[in-house]
Amino acid sequence: MEATMTNATASTAEQKIQDRTVPESTVGEVHVENPRMTARAVDVYYGEKQAISNVNLDIGLGQVIAFIGPSGCGKSTFLRCLNRMNDTIDVCRVEGEIKIDQDDIYDPRIDVVQLRARVGMVFQKPNPFPKSIYENIAYGPRIHGLVKSKVELDEIVESSLTRAGLWNEVKDRLDQTGTGLSGGQQQRLCIARAIAVSPEVILMDEPCSALDSIVTAKVEELIHELREQYTIVIVTHSMQQAARVSDRTAYFHLGKLVEVGETKQIFTSPTHELTQDYITGRFG
Ligand SMILES: Nc1ncnc2c1ncn2[C@@H]1O[C@H](COP(=O)(O)OP(=O)(O)OP(=O)(O)O)[C@@H](O)[C@H]1O
Ligand SMILES: [Mg+2]
Repeated sequence: MEATMTNATASTAEQKIQDRTVPESTVGEVHVENPRMTARAVDVYYGEKQAISNVNLDIGLGQVIAFIGPSGCGKSTFLRCLNRMNDTIDVCRVEGEIKIDQDDIYDPRIDVVQLRARVGMVFQKPNPFPKSIYENIAYGPRIHGLVKSKVELDEIVESSLTRAGLWNEVKDRLDQTGTGLSGGQQQRLCIARAIAVSPEVILMDEPCSALDSIVTAKVEELIHELREQYTIVIVTHSMQQAARVSDRTAYFHLGKLVEVGETKQIFTSPTHELTQDYITGRFG
C-alpha cells in the first residue's frame, strides 16, 4: 500500500515537472560588470537537432561560474562553444556571437590554436599526451613561443606542476610517461598543462567525476587558488561542488539557460520552478 502511494506521489511530481515550461528568456541577471567573455543569441545544432537555444550570458572576469542541469541539457555543448571545441564535430553548427575581451571568437580571421591557448580546457576524462610528464607541460609554452630558453621552460614546468599540486609527487620522474600516473595525478597533470600557457579562461567539463573525494578536494582547492588569476567555467553534476567553488551558477534545461545568478542565491532561493526542482533533487 505504502509503495503504491509513494509511486503515485512520485509520478505526480514528475508530471508537475513536465508541465513546467522553460522560460523564453533567462531568469536572473545574465550581464556582469566586467565580462571576460560574452555570449549573445547562441544557438547550436547537431545536424537538424537543436541542442542550445538562444543563450545569452556574460562570464565575469576573475570569477568562477558553474553550469548545472540534467544530463543532455547542453552544458558540455555550450561549454565547447567557448573555445570552438565544437569545430571538431562535423555535424555541429554554432550561431550567434561569442566574444573574449571584445574579440569575436568565430571571426574567420581568429587563429583557433591561439584561441585555445587563451581559453584552455580540462576534460572529464584525463587525457595526457603519450609523452613524458615534462613534455606534457612543456609542449604548449614551446609551440606558443612563450619561452626563450631551457631554463625558462624548466621554470614553467615546475611552477605549473606546483600550482596543480603535483610537483612533489612527480619531480623525481619528469621523464616518465604522463599516462603512467594515477587517474587523479593525470587530471592534475592536465590542469598543469592547461595553466602552463597562461590562459585567460579555463573551461572544465566535470573535471572531478572520475576522482575520489581526496583528489576532488585537491582539485577544488586548486580552483580556489586559480580563481585569483583566471576566469573559470566548470560543468558539474555535484551541487555541493557548484556551491563550494563558484561565484555564479547557470542552470540549463533542454538546451535553454533557465536561470543564472549568484551561487548563494541560486542554491538558497532559486526563482524559477525548474531550478527549484533540480536543486532540491526532484529530478536530474
Ligand atoms: N557529437 C554529438 N552529435 C550529436 N548530438 C550530440 C553530440 N553531442 C551532444 N549531442 C546532443 O546534444 C544534446 C546536449 O548534449 P550535451 O552533451 O551538451 O549535454 P550535457 O548537459 O553536457 O549532458 P551530460 O550531463 O550528460 O554530460 C543532447 O541531446 C545530446 O544528445
Ligand atoms: Mg556533458
